Amino acid sequence: MAMEVAFLAPSVSQPAVAQHMGTAPGPQPSSGFGMKLAAGVCSAAAAVGLASSRKRSKTAARYTTQTILPSLAWIKTGVKASELQPTELKALTLAGNDVLIGKTEAGALFCVGNLCPHIGTPMSEGADVIGDVIVCPLHGSSFKVTTGELIDWCVSPPIIGPLTGLIVDKKNLLIFECRQGGFLGSGEVEVLVDTNAKKAYEAGYWKGLLDAQGKDDGTYY
Ligand code: FES
Repeated sequence: MAMEVAFLAPSVSQPAVAQHMGTAPGPQPSSGFGMKLAAGVCSAAAAVGLASSRKRSKTAARYTTQTILPSLAWIKTGVKASELQPTELKALTLAGNDVLIGKTEAGALFCVGNLCPHIGTPMSEGADVIGDVIVCPLHGSSFKVTTGELIDWCVSPPIIGPLTGLIVDKKNLLIFECRQGGFLGSGEVEVLVDTNAKKAYEAGYWKGLLDAQGKDDGTYY
C-alpha cells in the first residue's frame, strides 16, 4: 500500500511572540504587587494568545511511498570532452544525480558517482586519477573507473583509515554510461541517468519512516 505524505508546518504570528517575550509595546505597570499582578495577567494572556495564534497549515510539498521505477535518459552536461584534460575531473548534478565526469591518464572519457561509497565524501574534493583508477581523497579507497570495481578499501591514514573502513560494508563505486554527443562526437558529453532517482530515494525515505511508525505496509524492513 502506497501513501501520500504532506508536511504540517506550524506558523506563529510575530506579535504573539513579541507579547510572550515581554517585548510588546504598551503601558507598563509601575511597581510592587500591582506590577507582579499585571505581569502575571500579561503572561497568562500572552500564553493564551500564543496558543490561539499558532496555526497549522499544509505546505505544497508532497511525497509518496510507492515504488518509483527508473526512467533513464541521456542528459547533456554542458561540457565538451575536448575541454577535459587527462586525469581532470568535473562534478555535476544531473537530474538529481551527483556525477563526476573525467578522463583517464590515457584520455578515455568516463563518468562515475561523485560520492564515495564509504561515507559519501565527494570525490571531486581532491580525488586522484591514476591510470584508470580513481582514489578517494579521504581514506584512499580506490575504484576502477570503467567498472566501478573496488580495488582498495580505506587504506589511509594508517590505522585510522582501516578502522573507519570496518564500520561500513565494502561497496563498488557507481558508474554511469557517458558519450560524446553531436556530429561525430563533436558536441557535449552526455550521461545516461535515472531521472527518477531523487523521487525514488525520497519515496524510500518516507516508506522507512512510516513503516517504523507502523503507518505503511511494513515491507521496508
Ligand atoms: S570517504 Fe572515501 S574512502 Fe572514506
